[in-house]
This record gives sequence, C-alpha cells and structure tokens, in this order.
Amino acid sequence: MTYETIRVETADGVATITLNRPSVHNAMNDLMRRELLDVFTGLTTDEAVRVVVVTGAGVRAFSAGADIRSFVEPQEPVAYREQRRRIEFRQVMETCPQPILAAIRGYALGGGLELALTCDIRIAGDDAQLGLTEVNLAIIPGGGGTQRLPRLVGRGKALEMILTGSRISAAEALRIGLVERVVPTAETLTATQELARTLAAKAPVALRYAKEAVVKGLGMSLPDGLRLEHDLSTLLRTTEDRLEGARAFLEKRPPKWTGR
Ligand code: COA
Repeated sequence: MTYETIRVETADGVATITLNRPSVHNAMNDLMRRELLDVFTGLTTDEAVRVVVVTGAGVRAFSAGADIRSFVEPQEPVAYREQRRRIEFRQVMETCPQPILAAIRGYALGGGLELALTCDIRIAGDDAQLGLTEVNLAIIPGGGGTQRLPRLVGRGKALEMILTGSRISAAEALRIGLVERVVPTAETLTATQELARTLAAKAPVALRYAKEAVVKGLGMSLPDGLRLEHDLSTLLRTTEDRLEGARAFLEKRPPKWTGR
C-alpha cells in the first residue's frame, strides 16, 4: 500500500512510519490522519511487525501539528455526533499490541507532540523543541494532550506548558520525563531503530503482554491492575517460549523464539 502523506517501511520486524510533508514541517492534514488510521489498523493484527517507530521526514521537524492552513479553508459541515463517532488514529494506536517508539528530531508541536505522547517511548534529538502550542491559536489540544501530558509530567508542568503554549528543549523534556532519551540529532532515527530492533528480538508474546499490563493497568485501580498482571503472567507460564527461554539460559545459547 502506498500513501501520499506518510511512508511505511518494514525491516527486521520493525515498521517505520515517516510523516512525510517536510515542506510544512510534517503538519497533519485530514489525509495524513486517515492514512495513519489505516496503517495503525493494519498493524494491530500484523504479527510480523514486532515494534513500530514513528518519525518525521527531513531534519527540521517530527511534526508541527495540525495543518493550520486547513483552519481557514471552508470545511464540509460534519454533524457533532458524527464527529464524535469517528474512530481516530490515536485510539487505534492505544490498542496496538506492539511497542510504538517516537524518534523526535526538531519540532514536535501541538498535534505532533500529541502523536509522540500516544507513543510508548520517546527518543529526542538534542535539537528537539516540544510544546502544546494550541493556546496561541485560541484553541486547546484536542488529540489527547490535556490528558496524556499531565499523566507523564504531572499537573503543574503540564498546565505550565499548555497555558503558556511555549516550547521546551530536549534537555528540559528529558528532565521532566517527557522523553526517555536524548541523542545527538543526526542519530535520532538510528538510535530509535536500534532500540526497536533490541525489543523486536525479545519473546513476542512477553513483549505484548508486558505492554498490555502497563498500559491497561495505568487506567485501572491498583488492585485491578495487579489482577491483570497476575492473569497475564499466569498465561505466559503456558507458552513454549517460556521453556525455550529457560533452556537457552541453562544451555548458555541465544533463545529461538517461536511466538507460541
Ligand atoms: N500547519 C501548516 N503549515 C505549517 C505548519 C502548520 N502547523 N507549521 C509550519 N508550516 C509551514 C509554514 O507555513 C511554512 O510554509 P511556507 O514555506 O509556505 O511559508 C513552512 O511550513 C515552514 O515553516 P516556517 O514557519 O517558515 O518555519 P520556521 O522554521 O520559521 O518555524 C515553526 C517553524 C514550527 C516554529 C513554525 O512553523 C510554527 O510555529 N508552526 C506552527 C506550529 C503550531 O502552532 N502547531 C500547532 C497547530 S494546532
């Protein structure tokens, strides 16, 4: 499948999705949102893909957020209820069993940062600038930013960022826990893909259940989360890969995972 606004390449069990509108800092238009919905929908059932990387084309931006040009273009009227019913790509990303890594080079603003916030692990180049800048356009984040940012960095820091609409540096983002690693900017994608390959080499079912336990658990009470962890770890005791992992360790050889 070829897309107009994104590129998708798969190698070594890692799918790399590149937002591909570099002339507008990879701003997101409706077509990009539909294409992301399509690709993530396919990935949720694609067992050959173990890990997903999301990045932006070019050297200047991950994504500068919603395409502001579309704000002033005449819109087809869409009934409010119909709008609420539409599945959007971030909802599908939430159900994606694979870990999703963001490789952030340059600007990650507005919906661009919200996309990165929907990913599981964020790696930033040292030139990255991150912000939820919507308030400067008299709107508020509408792609999950008001909910996901405070869960990552806490209420005060999230409100400071959202209310000022200002951008923070990669170093500051690392300090407050908004990104997990900062690397020299030219190495952003390679470092992220290297981490992706490391994850792709793990036992596939363990990787999926570990993500499920953490992500679903965060939306639960502690007792419910502990119950979920117990159920998933009990299920994993029945796999062939669990025996293979133990045997490989005892025989001092690398494991050969089958995903069963
Ligand atoms: N939507 C549409 N076009 C955008 C865009 C966006 N979100 N962000 C950048 N562009 C376009 C610019 O209009 C410009 O187009 P042009 O070459 O036809 O003039 C091109 O991308 C390059 O951007 P420019 O502003 O010239 O680059 P810069 O290096 O001076 O500044 C930014 C980069 C990202 C700081 C600046 O473009 C910006 O603030 N963008 C808006 C970010 C934002 O508010 N996003 C939230 C949207 S809700």
